[in-house]
Amino acid sequence: MADAEKLSADFIEAVQNVLASKDETARKQMLGTTMQAMAMLEAPVDAIWKLIMSPHAPSALMTLIKAGVIQEIAKTDSPSSADKLAQATGADRLLIVRLLRPVSAIGVVEETSQEEYAPTPITKALVGRVLSGGYQFMFSAATRSLANMPFYLEKTGFKNVEGIPGPFQDAHGTQDGMFPWLIKDPALMGNFNAFMTGQRIDRKQWFDIFDVENILLKGSKTDQNAIMMVDVGGGEGYDISMFHKRYPEAPGRLIVEDLPAVIDSIQELAPKVESKKHDFFQPQPIKGARCYYFRSILHDWPDDDCITILKHTAEVMTPGYSKLLMSEFVLPASNTPLYPALLDINMMAVLNGMERTEAQWSKLLDAAGLEVVKFWSVGAETEGLIEAVLKS
Ligand SMILES: C[S@@+](CC[C@H](N)C(=O)[O-])C[C@H]1O[C@@H](n2cnc3c(N)ncnc32)[C@H](O)[C@@H]1O
Repeated sequence: MADAEKLSADFIEAVQNVLASKDETARKQMLGTTMQAMAMLEAPVDAIWKLIMSPHAPSALMTLIKAGVIQEIAKTDSPSSADKLAQATGADRLLIVRLLRPVSAIGVVEETSQEEYAPTPITKALVGRVLSGGYQFMFSAATRSLANMPFYLEKTGFKNVEGIPGPFQDAHGTQDGMFPWLIKDPALMGNFNAFMTGQRIDRKQWFDIFDVENILLKGSKTDQNAIMMVDVGGGEGYDISMFHKRYPEAPGRLIVEDLPAVIDSIQELAPKVESKKHDFFQPQPIKGARCYYFRSILHDWPDDDCITILKHTAEVMTPGYSKLLMSEFVLPASNTPLYPALLDINMMAVLNGMERTEAQWSKLLDAAGLEVVKFWSVGAETEGLIEAVLKS
């Protein structure tokens, strides 16, 4: 017993040291270890109950966000009563009290006294554009699909998901892929774009680990028409703007491409960055760039679609000059950490896509006439940058 107490105290001290170090990679690693330790400590019945009860609090939270209750609690630092929340939002007082019980129990808000609720750091983070957008998008697009997925896959005889129709189409009663579906709902598309843009703000960027100077800048063309980078499916242009901020003197044009609705929704872009409406299933109009950059694109698509996208890129790459860079997860062949493993299921449920291992990436590139130069590791959790060129 005494030993268990000392070991627990040592563990807490180790966690505190990691937090004090402000090392994001170490923090994530410690989080992974803690989750593994929790799984070991839980009795099977605890683990199974936790799984059974896992959709409930997120569902209560989504309802409270939709009703505006979370936003109301976040407005002030002092506690708000259930009566006041009901008055401000028009939601039923008893419903608010019931929904806030699990949400308080998991620390998203704090019940400071009976039926009075104050914001926590999580409440404040949750109402920001990025996470509020992410939460609402994921709940609307992914959660429904995930809940329905076992029943859909049973109907298919448990075939791997490799294109439309898939779990998303079955759950949402549509023949559209997720992106055309999303474009029909501008508010949800705004949530998605905010989420995509914001989710890596605090993370290491690909150019923090990639040798930009020697691989991209050295030897790149400097004439007026030279193109340094095309960010294909670049959303709101966050990554390419960050690249420009870091390398303002880099020669050549910088171009972000995406679907018309996304390009039209861009609110702010660095002046040097140009935008272009382009469907990546059509031939790539920008030829001979120093680099074609794809972030979180290929994991959205099954192999056949990826090969089409990559072939269109390979067709315009200049041999010995153009590079293909893909910022993606690279799964280990075994013992995948939880987060990328869950992302793979997410890709299956929402986009009929998948996360891939080194072997799967190499095979995909090979089929499009490309070859891997190097798998760069961006940090913990298997995030990577895949550098490729035309096959020699
Ligand atoms: C997962 S998001 C990644 C966005 C951005 N690269 C990032 O990491 O923030 C996928 C992007 O692909 C775009 N997209 C989807 N289908 C497309 C198509 N057929 N042609 C061009 N872009 C497309 C979406 O609009 C979206 O911006």
